[in-house]
Amino acid sequence: MAKRYRVLIGGEWVGDSRPEIKVTNPYDDSVVGVVPEAGGEDVEAAIGAAQEGFRAISSTPAYRRSEILAKASDLILRDREEIAEIIAREAGKTWKYALAEADRSAETFRFASLEARNEHGELVPMDASPVSAGRFGFYVRTPIGVIGAITPFNFPLNLVAHKVAPAIAAGNALVLKPATKTPLTSIKLAELLMEAGLPPGVFNLVVGSGKTVGNRLVEDDRLAMITFTGSPPVGVEIKARSGLKRVTLELGSNSPTIVDEDGDLDAAVSRCVVGSFANSGQVCISVQRIFVHRRRYSEFLDNFVAATKKLKVGDPMDRESDIGPMISRAELERAVAWIGEARELGAKVEAGGGVVGNCLEPTILSGVTPEMKVVCSEVFAPIVSVLPFDSFEDALDLADDSVYGLQAGVYTRDINKAFQAVKRLDVGGVIINDIPTFRVDHMPYGGNKQSGLGREGVRYAMEEMTNIKFVCINL
Ligand code: SIN
Repeated sequence: MAKRYRVLIGGEWVGDSRPEIKVTNPYDDSVVGVVPEAGGEDVEAAIGAAQEGFRAISSTPAYRRSEILAKASDLILRDREEIAEIIAREAGKTWKYALAEADRSAETFRFASLEARNEHGELVPMDASPVSAGRFGFYVRTPIGVIGAITPFNFPLNLVAHKVAPAIAAGNALVLKPATKTPLTSIKLAELLMEAGLPPGVFNLVVGSGKTVGNRLVEDDRLAMITFTGSPPVGVEIKARSGLKRVTLELGSNSPTIVDEDGDLDAAVSRCVVGSFANSGQVCISVQRIFVHRRRYSEFLDNFVAATKKLKVGDPMDRESDIGPMISRAELERAVAWIGEARELGAKVEAGGGVVGNCLEPTILSGVTPEMKVVCSEVFAPIVSVLPFDSFEDALDLADDSVYGLQAGVYTRDINKAFQAVKRLDVGGVIINDIPTFRVDHMPYGGNKQSGLGREGVRYAMEEMTNIKFVCINL
């Protein structure tokens, strides 16, 4: 029988008498755990507890918050294999990527531990105006309050860490609503945070649907901020419902990679294989559109197809698997339908396209056109399109022809072209000589256009999670 878990509210493990949410392994549909479904009273209790928690953590000195975060980082590393197994089983992420996610999360907490000790304000030169000469001004950063965090299935630990760790570092409390498909990793994190010495009520966890739990959090005026990672339509709804709360949104994209004539083709091929297919393409910065200079197009495509065909599709727990299942049958069917639409409109399947159990083979398309869903919408599946271009200018236009703007990759050996791309592309990050999927956890991360609002990356998230309080002294 699958283990029944409880959730954490106000430092207590609760939820025995609640209805059940079954958490299933997307690879074989087996039940890996059962969690209590939160009702309105649980959300109410979690918000009340977080208000208490906020009083505790906002008066906890920075060095102590830093120690708790460092301890949490150590504990994640201690339990990295157990965490990887939970991620592999509930999210279908293959073992090597699940283990890498555990390690990244430890680093995210480590960065937060360092930043907690380093948060500071700034002097404001009041004598810059004749009106204020003779006054002394500075600002400090104060914690924003209780934060509602809503997180997705695709990085069930590290995208939670990107909300929890900076919130604690800045002296805030949280109520977390993880994806209902992947709550077990968050429950494990909650255990580790308690072990690390986090005061009760600072981190509260409720599991439930967007309608019952998400909307209540988003609409409750006792929350000062909502931080959300997920799909653009849900992000838009959250913003519309959230009143005057601060909102940060990390949404999707159809990330481009440009491989120019002089770019390192071998490096581009091997990195595009990783960036297109890791976690079955269920990554906001997955490589979705690859633009290759026409003179290198065939060479790139041949090598890319050959490297992709070597990937192993299979059980996420198998240490050798590269590609696991899609998160749900519905998502698998959607992705297959998008390939079908592309084929009907003239695209060619160069590799993959088939279904193996609940997995979609890594799929490469050519001959695509801008109106196809696989090009213009976020595909969030192991599907990538390769397109030729004739001039670097054209490539920049094609890459930027998107409603999204998260990250872009550019392979070129020409420094002028690199800076041209930096200037021209309307995205949150330009990654020169690597794929848009590149991310380390202290860099600013977030999107323009429909890719979101605000930035994460520990220090930048802390800026979003604090208010500026200005102090002026009339001398
Ligand atoms: C995301 O899918 O938004 C996160 C990608 C990452 O952190 O690597």
